[in-house]
Order: sequence, then C-alpha cells, then structure tokens
Amino acid sequence: MNIFADESLGLFHLQSKDTSYIIQLVEGYPAHVYWGARLRHDDSLAGALELRERASFSPTPVLTRPSLSLDALPQEYPQYGTSDFRRPAYQVQLADGTRISELKYAGYTITPGKPALEGLPAVYAENEAEAQTLELTLKDDYAGLTVRLLYTVFADHNAITRSVRFEHNGEAPLRLEQALSASVDFADSSYDTLHLSGAWARERHVQRRPLTPGAALSLESRRGSSSHQTNPFIALLRHGADEDQGDVYGFSLVYSGSFAATAEVEQFGQTRVSIGINPFDFSWLLEPGQSFQTPEAVLVYSGEGLGGMSRTYHRLYRTRLCRGVHRDQARPILVNNWEATYFDFDADKIATIAKAAGPLGIELFVLDDGWFGRRDKDNSSLGDWFEDRRKLPEGLADLADRVNKEGVQFGLWVEPEMVSPDSELYRKHPDWCLHAAGRRRTEGRNQLILDLSRPEVCDYLYETLSAVFFSAPIRYIKWDMNRNMTEIASAKASPERQKETAHRYMLGLYNLLERLTSRFPDILFESCSGGGGRFDPGILFYMPQTWTSDNTDAVERLAIQYGTSIVYPASSMGAHVSDVPNHQVDRITTLATRGDVAMSGNFGYELDLTKFTEAEKDLATRQIAQYKEIRTLVQQGDMYRLLSPFEGSGDTAWMFVSEDKTEAFVAYFRVLAIPNPPISRLTLKGLNPELDYVIETGAKGSNGHVHGGAEASAPADGVSSAPFQTAFDGTPLGGDRLMRIGLVVSDLRGDYASCTYRLRAVQR
Ligand code: GLA
Repeated sequence: MNIFADESLGLFHLQSKDTSYIIQLVEGYPAHVYWGARLRHDDSLAGALELRERASFSPTPVLTRPSLSLDALPQEYPQYGTSDFRRPAYQVQLADGTRISELKYAGYTITPGKPALEGLPAVYAENEAEAQTLELTLKDDYAGLTVRLLYTVFADHNAITRSVRFEHNGEAPLRLEQALSASVDFADSSYDTLHLSGAWARERHVQRRPLTPGAALSLESRRGSSSHQTNPFIALLRHGADEDQGDVYGFSLVYSGSFAATAEVEQFGQTRVSIGINPFDFSWLLEPGQSFQTPEAVLVYSGEGLGGMSRTYHRLYRTRLCRGVHRDQARPILVNNWEATYFDFDADKIATIAKAAGPLGIELFVLDDGWFGRRDKDNSSLGDWFEDRRKLPEGLADLADRVNKEGVQFGLWVEPEMVSPDSELYRKHPDWCLHAAGRRRTEGRNQLILDLSRPEVCDYLYETLSAVFFSAPIRYIKWDMNRNMTEIASAKASPERQKETAHRYMLGLYNLLERLTSRFPDILFESCSGGGGRFDPGILFYMPQTWTSDNTDAVERLAIQYGTSIVYPASSMGAHVSDVPNHQVDRITTLATRGDVAMSGNFGYELDLTKFTEAEKDLATRQIAQYKEIRTLVQQGDMYRLLSPFEGSGDTAWMFVSEDKTEAFVAYFRVLAIPNPPISRLTLKGLNPELDYVIETGAKGSNGHVHGGAEASAPADGVSSAPFQTAFDGTPLGGDRLMRIGLVVSDLRGDYASCTYRLRAVQR
C-alpha cells in the first residue's frame, strides 16, 4: 500500500495491496490513466496516458489545445457542459438556472488511515497502518463549489474506495442534480459486463453479456431501496476471464436506496462505468456553507477472475464493513417460526417449538411476525410495537424466559419503518408516512412507509424500539422492510427540497440504526426485506447478516446463494431448512439436501420442529453438530466456487478454505439425475498443494458418497450418530492431487441430491 504524488508531473499513483490506480492531471482535469495489476512506481508512468488528438465533432475547453476534447479524455470525475458528451458523474444547477460547472484541480492531501463518512456507512480501517487516503481537491470558482474526491487504498485488500464531497462556499444556492460516487473510463471495450438481477424470491441471478457501443448496461433502482430486482453492483470482465483467471473490475455501492450503475461504450471504444445515487427523482439544494457527501463505492480489481474479486469483497466486507461484537463471532443456529405458524400461534405453541429445538442443538429461537398489536394477518398493527396479550397472555418477557429455560436464546422480528393504516400509530399520526399532499396513498402489503426523513419519526422509533428491546432478554432482532416507496414526498420538506426525501430517508434510517445498534451492542441484528430486497453493503455496516431470500427451496437457493456470493460473504447470508413441499415452489427435496444447502450460510430451520419424525430429528441433530464443526470455516473462510448453477447441467459446487489452508468444507449438489451420467469429478481449489488432507463425508442422509480412487468407506445408509465419517480408507490425499485430479463424486441418486466433505490437513 502506498500513494505516490508528484505534483510537478501531475501524477498520482495509488497502490492498494497488489493493485495500481493512476491519475494524471491534464490541463487541470484529473484524467484516468490506469487501474489493474500493481506497477512499479517511476516517472515514466507520467507518459503512460496516450491523449487522443483530433476528436472530430467534439469541441475543446482548452483554446490553446484545439485537439483536446473532454469527450475523448479518460476522466476521474467527468462534468457536463464543456465538451464531454458522455454520462457525467455530477451535475449542478446554479442560481441563474445554468447547468455548467467546471472543476479544476486545486490541491491534494494524503493522510494515513481512512476517514469515516458523515452519516453514511463505509468501509473502515481499524488503525492508520491499514489504509491511506488521497483527497484530490477540485474547484469551480465561478460557482463557489469545492469538490473533494476521496480515494482510500489498503495494505491487505485489492480494493480502492471512492466517494465525493461537495462543499458550497459561494454566495447563491446551488442545486445538485446528480452526484455519483465513482466513474472510471476504461481505454477499450473488450469486456463483458456482469451484474445480479432478479425479483422477489429470485434474487441476484448472475447475468453476463458483452459490451456493445452505446449505453451497454444501465442498472437502476427507483424503489427507494436497493431492491430485489437489481443489486448495487456492476463488474467488467476481460473477454475470456472466468471464475479463476483474467482481469475483473468490480464496483459495489455502499448504499441501500435508489441507485444507478451504468456501462457506456463511446465512439472511440472507451468504456465509462459509473455508480452512485440514482439521479432520477433526486436533487439536493446546497445553501452557501452547506455540503453533500456521496455514498462510497468500493472498487475491486482481480487478476484471478471473478473468484478472486469475490474473495476480496468477502474479506473486506466481513472484516472492515460489518462491525460490532458479532462480526467475528460464530453466528447462532436458529429456528424461526414464520413458515411453521405464520400468524397463527400463541405462547404455548412457541414454547413447544423451543422445547423441540433445545435437544437438537439449536441455539436461538426467533419469534417472527404477528406478536404485536392485533396482527392476525398482514393488514394491521405495524407501528403498534406492544405485545398482543391474546397470543402472549404473560407477555414477551415471560415467553423469552420460557424459551431460555429450554437452553435456547430468544430473538424477535420487527418491521419498524412501516405503518399499517389500521394501527394506533397511524390514527394518531396520519402525516408520519411518506405521502404527497392531496394524493391518495398507494399501499403495498396493506402498509405505508414511515417518513424517516423526519427526525421526530426516527426519535419515536428509537424510543419505542428501545423499550421493546429492554423489555425481554432479546439476543437477536430480524429487522424487516416489506414494500418499496411510492408517492415519495415528505409533509415536512419545503417544495424545493422534496426531491431530497428518498435520500434523507436513508440518512434517517442509517442514523436510527447507528443509535440502536450502539445502544444494544449485544443484540445480533439481521436485515430483511421480503427476503433479499435490501441485501447491500450499506445495510451490512449496521446489521452483519441478511435474510437472503424468502425463497427457501433448496434448488432455488443454489442459484440465489451462488449469485449473492459474487459480492457478499457467506457470513452475511441467512439460510434455513424449511418444510416440504416447499411453500414457494412446491418442490420436494430431501432434508439432507436442504441441510447441505443451508449449511453454506448462517444455518437455521424455518419449520415446525414438533412435526419432525424420529429419523428427521436424528438427521437434524447430526446436521447441527456438523454445522457447529464447520461454521467457522463457512463464516470466516475463503470461498471458492466450483460449479455454477447458471452454466452447464445446473450442478452446483463450492467450498470454503481456512486462511491457513489446513481445513476445508466442500458442498456438491446434483440438481437433476440423468442415466449413465458422466463421471462427476470435482477439482478443488484454494488448497495448499504441499499439504495432505484427510477427507470425511458430511452428515449422511444425503444419498451420495465419495470415491477418491480408493474404496469409499462411508456408510451406505449414512445412518450414524457422528456428523462426519471417514471417506475412502482414511488415506490422506495431496492438495495438488485434489486440485488437479479431483474427487470423483458418484452414486448421487435421484434429483436434488447432495454431498458434503470436510478436509483436514495431516502429517502423512
Ligand atoms: C417478510 C420476510 C419473511 C417474514 C414475513 C413476515 O416477507 O421476508 O421472512 O418475516 O415478512 O411477515
């Protein structure tokens, strides 16, 4: 890690672990020279930027250099109105109505560490030795605008974080019409784009396609939330780059609201990628003396394909975005009553589930929706955060005690950002929701959204939720959010500030979460939005895990969890075993396969445990014991994806390797059986080729076992009390052999079959 600055050459060379990022001043404009594998630093880098002269039909802002046009110059923070016709990174309207602003270089600072972003989530450094920050100052004297471009590099991560701060030192108000977090101009367009798209219950499916001239990819959320439909992430992959090799460039936005990410190929074949708050329906009034901070974009370069990029994001987000005591702690195995009971429960029913959970080894019971107000279905009571004595006659604290007596901790569901029209809160404060005066209020799931841009609404939630969290021994909170924004307007905002509402909502939410998570540091918070509708880095700063999807079907989850893992670590993904036929898709899969899929995230169950047969109880007991043995690996190890559900037969496999490479956990899933199948050879990744590993198969019940060339000795019926069984004859196998010849997976019978392996390094 190092930042070299040479003002006489106008050169800034940022080195982040094994990455270089180079900026050069051209006529006072910060131009983008290079981003990729680390380069040696010397003066010759200043000659690396080849300026395109003669940009026909593209005017010049520098009269002494008629051949120079901003339209052809690769830039760091492109502006509008002075010869660049591509998508700008920002736009400002001055008091006189004009929309031109010209930022020119005015200085720089380099500081150790990484500053926090006021009011916004961001990657952090724990000490000054971990990171270094470059601040480039740009000024538009006519407008009275100062813009600070922030770049942080890291000693241990191939990531560069970027954000922008606008400061208004002029006389008359300015209006920011657009303020993106990062823009990068690539010299050519021989890339594919990759992004994650979907829908409710089908989140984050991987989409890859080649760049073409024009606005090749435009991703955006206009929902006031990062959304199920697109994730705030975009990547470029060099043609031919794949999971394991080739250049990959990721852009991930640390933000939970409406965003835009685009890739645009222009006339000379250069590619501009940008990401930030969605300019659609956004503007921000800056009075003299005021400032605006954009969210942070996290840029990751990998020369080791998509897998390398993902592992950088995983490690960075797991250790330097997530915070709090739970960041590094093993996450509890939980049972949630949603799919077991929906709204139809009482204290005794809950107590019987908790009683069944304890002996299996489950550590936490989560009471989901329906415990408050008079909520028997989804049409009332959001906002009335007091227990429903019809269902819980002795109250929440008493129920929590009963659960605790079974040796199980107690957790609770809340949906604080919402209000039901049929609620005491709404009857008292009908103007506390987002709404446009004089218009009807569009409902989603029979509910409205509280206006978190208003401090008094956030204060009310802070006090009300604090009272609930203090009222019982609550160790976990599931924070849900079950609709997107319509009629985005605030009763308290002036007309000229109405377009600030959606972003002010996010700032209000972040502030509320900051206050609550600081006041209740021991509570583990899990975010949820109809499953994974707000699975983004912004939320992970406050809540270290997210309910990945409302879709709990094992097969569907393969694609959802695989796609989610492109950016997010397994420690951020809630994954539960649910009942069959599955409630979302009606599919029937074995308990073993459901367990194997869920074990690749934060493991739990979401069904009525009291209905388990003895055989199911036995298998669940072994699954839980198995997960306890491997959860540190899954939650903190490096993930290597082996087979993609989006390619080929749909078979899926992945593995987790400990940092010192002495342990690994492998999971393989066969979706559809075929006759006379080809031999499934699973070549492993990320092991130490010099080490030998013993291999054990996971808690059986899954209908497969492994041959390593020798005879497998795993029990065919799989019934054994131990979570793991020795595979083969116990002979250790070399890491090199496992990564080149691989493991032969055979005897996986039927559809939706799976098997898991644990590897441990031994002295031969
Ligand atoms: C959302 C969540 C579910 C469940 C329900 C309760 O849909 O994603 O897990 O909590 O709300 O209403």
